[in-house]
Order: sequence, then C-alpha cells, then structure tokens
Amino acid sequence: MSMLLELKDVRAGYGETVVLEGVSLALKAGQAISVLGRNGVGKSTLLNTVLGLTTLHSGSIVYQGKGVEKMPSHKRATAGLGLVPQEREIFPSLSVEENLKVAVAPGTWTLEAVYELFPRLKQRHRNMGNQLSGGEQQMLAIGRALIGNPKVLLLDEPFEGLAPVIVDMLVEAFNRLRQSSDMGIVLVEQHAELALELTENTIVLDRGHISWQGVSQDLLNDPARLAQLIGLDLA
Ligand SMILES: Nc1ncnc2c1ncn2[C@@H]1O[C@H](COP(=O)(O)OP(=O)(O)OP(=O)(O)O)[C@@H](O)[C@H]1O
Ligand SMILES: [Mg+2]
Repeated sequence: MSMLLELKDVRAGYGETVVLEGVSLALKAGQAISVLGRNGVGKSTLLNTVLGLTTLHSGSIVYQGKGVEKMPSHKRATAGLGLVPQEREIFPSLSVEENLKVAVAPGTWTLEAVYELFPRLKQRHRNMGNQLSGGEQQMLAIGRALIGNPKVLLLDEPFEGLAPVIVDMLVEAFNRLRQSSDMGIVLVEQHAELALELTENTIVLDRGHISWQGVSQDLLNDPARLAQLIGLDLA
C-alpha cells in the first residue's frame, strides 16, 4: 500500500538554525505513529515542518505521492494535513461553535459528528473560547482540526497538563476516532507509555535526530530501553 505521508532525510529548523537532521518517517492511511523525546528535542518542529511552518533546508516531504516542500502552509492544511498545535490556539472571543465553523471543509466530519465525539463541546457550544477549561480547549482544538476533514492528523501533546480523568476522556475519543476513520495520525507525546499503547509505530527523537524507530509494542515491552531513550528516572 502506498504511503500517505513520507518524510525523507529532513533537515529543518528556524532560519539558519538547524533543529532536525536526517529525519525520515512513513505513515499509511489508518496508521498511527508516536513521536517521543525529551523537552526541546524537536518534536513540535517536526510537526510544524510537515505543515511548512519552519525552514526546510533539505530532504523531502511527500504527501499522497507529491512533494509539498514548496506548497504554502495554508494550502497544505486545505489539502488535508491537519495540525492540532501544542498551544491549542483557540480564538478566545469566538464561541465554541464559531471556533468550529471557521474550519469547516466538506467531508464526514460535520459539526454534528464533532459534537457526537465530544458531547462536552455541544453542551458548551455558546461559551466563548476563553471560558473553557483546559480539557475543553483541547477537545475544541481537536474538533476544529477534524471538522477540516484532514487525511493526516498531527497532534502535538494533546494530553499535556490535563487531569487524569480528562486524559481518559480524550483517550476514549482517540480510540473511537481511530475505529471510525482511516486518517493517518502522528501523535507527539511526553506520556510515553500511553502514546506507545495508542500507536503502531514510534520514533524517538534526541537533539533533532532519530535515536530509535520501530514497533511501539516492542518499546513498551522494554522499559529499560525506553527509560534510556527518553531519560526517565526509574528510581
Ligand atoms: N520559533 C522558533 N525559533 C527558533 N528556535 C526555535 C523555535 N521554536 C523552537 N525552537 C528551538 O528548536 C528546538 C526544538 O524545539 P521544539 O519546540 O521542536 O521541541 P519539543 O520537542 O517540541 O519540546 P517540548 O516537549 O518542550 O514541546 C529547541 O531548541 C527550541 O529552542
Ligand atoms: Mg513541543
């Protein structure tokens, strides 16, 4: 089966500064990949590079068989690359429903479908963006990406800073999402074990390089290796 998204030997950063070097990955429809690594290793830079929000020094980004290196960021988004940024970027003075409606594109993810996935958003549909809890903001950020009907969903630390009960709610939504669609997903996470459980394949970044690449389950079964790779203190 052909790849949905392929990065080959990507070297990218901000202006002259190089953050990522020699980064390659391949994602098929219906598959999910985790990107793990400590703070500052380049995880967000990787997602931003797929969207064209960084400086690509060399390497290729192939989406649905075509190089998108020169395609402007907004066109990549409308072509089906959907990013849920780490900062969530909710419009504070628009309501939940307005935040969703600005991102609508034709497809199976309608307003109703997003509300079905996140009933909480339906209950809060008239609340302003700045009147939401952290968990609700994250649901809205994900809902806003989905309503654009992406083929690839790039999630930047969706569980960061949320209470365990909210994380459980999001994980349940993530699983339902995967059952009902053939989107490709790239999940950046600090909760390494959770991310490994939710995805088929994983890459680990260390200072902009890939330090490990393989089947998520294999790393989940090797806690010592995982600790070594992402510097967890097992004490
Ligand atoms: N806009 C920017 N301009 C210049 N350098 C940046 C910019 N954003 C990030 N960097 C640098 O790029 C490197 C990688 O940052 P990045 O945000 O990709 O890391 P990360 O793995 O997502 O970290 P975290 O887990 O803390 O979110 C860091 O050294 C950071 O300081
Ligand atoms: Mg980040």
